[in-house]
Amino acid sequence: MSTLRRSILSVPGHRVSMHEKATACAADIIMLDLEDSCPPAEKVQARETIVHSIQNLDWQGKTLCVRINDLAGPFALQDVLSLIPEIGNQIETLVVPKVESAAQMHYLDHLLTALNCEVGIEPIIESAKALRDAPEIAGATSRNRCLVFGIADYSASINMPLSSISGHGENDGIYPGDPLHFVYSRLILCGKADGLKVIDAPYGNFRDPEGLKISAARSRALGFDGKWCIHPAQIEAVNAAFSPTPEEIERAEQVLSAFKQALSEGRGAAAIGDSMIDQASVRMAEDVMARAKTAK
Ligand code: GLV
Ligand code: MG
Repeated sequence: MSTLRRSILSVPGHRVSMHEKATACAADIIMLDLEDSCPPAEKVQARETIVHSIQNLDWQGKTLCVRINDLAGPFALQDVLSLIPEIGNQIETLVVPKVESAAQMHYLDHLLTALNCEVGIEPIIESAKALRDAPEIAGATSRNRCLVFGIADYSASINMPLSSISGHGENDGIYPGDPLHFVYSRLILCGKADGLKVIDAPYGNFRDPEGLKISAARSRALGFDGKWCIHPAQIEAVNAAFSPTPEEIERAEQVLSAFKQALSEGRGAAAIGDSMIDQASVRMAEDVMARAKTAK
């Protein structure tokens, strides 16, 4: 069964007190971060801190992953060599920032194979080059579990001004529509074409629950499977946005039963109220029911 990935809480790798708090939260996935939320002076010690937290805290059955540093930089190789022998079988994935090519994915894949570790990989797409080469990156290895959108680094890479770590909720009206719409759709297309989940960037303003709700609903409407959270206060709304509502479940049940009835009468389509449904509606309804089963 595939892991639920509605909410992914990003937690700085060097902050033990935040690890402790995270054990009790409702996020589907906890991501301990060695990259941008961990200052350079803390990175070496943070590897040990993460290993210690993963081995010793009671994570209450949560799925864990670790974001290493970028593969082209000075830290990533030692991140992998320090973490994998110790906790490689306790984490679901390595989250890999600033992936620039399929060749980098092959390199990491071979390294993990040499370490005899089956851990998955989550490449973050966060530059113009990565977005251009997203199909090759998505298809580079069977270790890939999902594509993640890194909104802040992507915006920096194309010189798009942002005022926080998230462009979500920051459109000031100068551009009609969402300036990142193409990016979301391309990522979703490239990820889904390879059977991967696609995860949206966080909503930057953690004191704006209304904005978060709208942002998460938009992500879901486009086909994203989940969203990063940068604060525990965001988890509940994000889980809700990516779980089917009682109305959606009721509608899915209606679709399945109306279509079954239609088939038994030799018809390939049916009407529910004023809407026609067919096999494609059945596939969507089955997806709703499958998500309803896995959502807590
Ligand atoms: C995440 O890494 C981002 O750059 O938004
Ligand atoms: Mg980034």
